[in-house]
Amino acid sequence: MKEAIRNWISRFNVTSSATQLEDSHIRKTNPLHDGGVFLNFSLSASGYRALEIPENQIPSEKAFLDGLKTRTDITEDNLGVWEPEFLEQIDALIIVADSHISIATSEKNRIIREISEFAIIVFVQKGKILRNASGIGIEHFGYADGVSQPNFLTNDDSPASQWDDNGALLKTLLVPESNQVDIETFGSYFVFRKLEQNVKKFKEKETELSMQFNMSSDEDYGILNRRGKSNKELAGAKIVGRFEDGTAVTNHSDEFGITREDQLENDFDYRDDTQGLKCPFHAHIRITNPRQDVSNDFAKSVRLTRRGIPYNDIGRDEHDLESDQPEDGVGLLFMCYQSSIERQFEFIQQAWANHGEIGPGNFVGQDAIIGQGPNATIKSLPGQWNTDDDRQNVPTEFRDFVTMKGGEYFFTPSIGFLRGL
Ligand code: HEM
Repeated sequence: MKEAIRNWISRFNVTSSATQLEDSHIRKTNPLHDGGVFLNFSLSASGYRALEIPENQIPSEKAFLDGLKTRTDITEDNLGVWEPEFLEQIDALIIVADSHISIATSEKNRIIREISEFAIIVFVQKGKILRNASGIGIEHFGYADGVSQPNFLTNDDSPASQWDDNGALLKTLLVPESNQVDIETFGSYFVFRKLEQNVKKFKEKETELSMQFNMSSDEDYGILNRRGKSNKELAGAKIVGRFEDGTAVTNHSDEFGITREDQLENDFDYRDDTQGLKCPFHAHIRITNPRQDVSNDFAKSVRLTRRGIPYNDIGRDEHDLESDQPEDGVGLLFMCYQSSIERQFEFIQQAWANHGEIGPGNFVGQDAIIGQGPNATIKSLPGQWNTDDDRQNVPTEFRDFVTMKGGEYFFTPSIGFLRGL
């Protein structure tokens, strides 16, 4: 049986990084270019053991070897609310993606048919990209997602003036594999988390908060700020760190009107906002990447390579979701690659998002999107953009919009490793 599994995996046609890179280059000049089906294969620690891989060839980080379920003291995950399938032993994760649902579905069915001979399918999770009216990828709360990413290989973007994400970051991504062959091969640790989003609660609280913002004087209540401009969107932007269209709140007090991905800015740090009067320290993007608040070198050393794919388990279409604002059954399949789960994902989730601690003893408040566990720091938002008068406290209950429903730590091995099985 073990031979049959190893044999199947060795023939599984995973998509190489080189192919993906080539496809993304082609898409720059031909946006209609379709790279075809994407296939990806990862193993958990129990998966390596089930395949009887020698101990010295199994990725050695403790968090990975122990698995996500054992790390609740760090993540503050509540296993009591996980979907039961995720509590089972999960040995492998296969990702199938295609721009055509019918192709992705038939590939998925083919794979299930083939591996059912020798494996139990613990879970099949569907995800689907959501887009706003301009076609930019968003998550269920309505914000542009997937914007800030490390750029590993090229330096061909226009030169960065503040935050340079280019090049030299492979050490935050790749892990050398120990193998029997002469050539050096690399893999990467992969974190998968199914994060349910309570859209109704988030949107209601966001509106409440926005009303408090606008109470800066009697006449302005609920409509205009003191400069005569509506700042309805500002409350949410200060929670996330970007407006819904992706405009960074540290650079703008209003939405910039972004309609194309190439307008999304990422060349900024918080040097002009050292008191958090434009973008609060606990805003999701500032606490998960404080940039020069903690020194650029340190911020870069914990950088994650992320992909969030929205899911919708309740079966209604996207249009309905906008008006329905579901309380459960929808969310984000959060995935990230890194060279160390402990120093990157776990550090960000625990120290920054949960504890809101961006330097020894410097507690700035819990991340309102993904922070979990108790946190006593009272958070405050400046009532207007870049003014420190009439500061108002954000209600401490502005949290608990996201519930972790299950996941696991994996390692995505090199193609050479898979072929060698
Ligand atoms: C349902 C859960 C989540 C939602 C709705 C969410 C939403 C967002 C949004 C809207 C952005 C701004 C756009 C971008 O730069 O991509 C963002 C950025 C980011 N998120 Fe999340 N996220 C979630 C979970 C997580 C988790 C679990 C982590 C890591 C522990 C994380 C880490 C980050 C990082 C590092 C950035 C980029 C910050 C920067 O470099 O400026 N997010 N997220």
